[in-house]
Amino acid sequence: VGEKTQFTIAFSQCIGDDAWRETMLDEMKRELSFYPNIEFIYRDASGDNQKQIQHIRELLEQNIDLLVVSPNEAEPLTPIVDSVFHKNIPVIVTDRKTSSGLYNAYVGADNVAIGRLAGQFIVHTLKGHGQVGIVTGLKGTSASIERKKGLLDALDSAGTVRLGIEIRSNWERQNAYEQAKHHIDQFLQQDIILAFNDQMAFGVIQALREAGENHKRVIGVDALSGKGNGLSEIAKGRLFASMLYPTGGTEAIRTAVAILQRKPYKRDNILGTVVINQDNAGLMMLQSNKIQEQQKDIDKRQELIVEQNKIYRDQQTTLNVLITS
Ligand code: FRU
Repeated sequence: VGEKTQFTIAFSQCIGDDAWRETMLDEMKRELSFYPNIEFIYRDASGDNQKQIQHIRELLEQNIDLLVVSPNEAEPLTPIVDSVFHKNIPVIVTDRKTSSGLYNAYVGADNVAIGRLAGQFIVHTLKGHGQVGIVTGLKGTSASIERKKGLLDALDSAGTVRLGIEIRSNWERQNAYEQAKHHIDQFLQQDIILAFNDQMAFGVIQALREAGENHKRVIGVDALSGKGNGLSEIAKGRLFASMLYPTGGTEAIRTAVAILQRKPYKRDNILGTVVINQDNAGLMMLQSNKIQEQQKDIDKRQELIVEQNKIYRDQQTTLNVLITS
């Protein structure tokens, strides 16, 4: 029996229409363009657990060779993702996790470490004293649970910075804005605010501005490059800081390819993080612009190769026709 050469990778995304996840998908597609033998099926569950469960059920009927999944909320998605694993279809979880730990590989940053880093940065910024308000993400997402755990670890070991107001949001700017507006008096009393992603931080900043407060220190997570995203908002001095949270799109596909080609791969692929603030945002922007330029160049070359291959195949067909006629 010959080795299998054609593969289908399915990607079940919890929510598709935010800049961070669009970046993740772009990275995946770029990496996939090097593997014309891989078919890619993409499903966006729009933040709906039931829809994501349904998507994975449908994907199972399509004879996929591997599933990449970013589970919307951990508990509800666990049984269906486990069932994929039990069918011996390799599973890569990315960014968010299920609650069972049944997967072949995880690709993403360590969210406990991110929370801890944010906590240490806050303790350092407040010189050890004060009150921090927090805005957490959607209740059942592992990223939110883990970030909070890391934050509390750091605050506990410092012992002097208190947790102030805590708002449970859903990762989205508008919801964080509305809730911050609703509790604005308490938000105004915090010495610093940590929102568990930049989008929610932007919502909080907007509510504070509408209350006439333009200088409150608000921190986020993601530090995504691109217009209007975390990195440039830090450089402009609007967002105080953010913990870099790489999307891992490239690494997810590389891991998938290694699994399919039966090459060695790591179970835990932990992507690095770092605090971005006014001191290094400019440098990070320069670097990311440079990388984007290089990537455009790679894309162009890649298109050329595809075109050349097509011309070559067309010529082969013509040649065959000539020979056989
Ligand atoms: C994007 C996002 C990020 C956050 C991550 C957590 O959908 O909300 O902003 O860091 O998901 O899973």
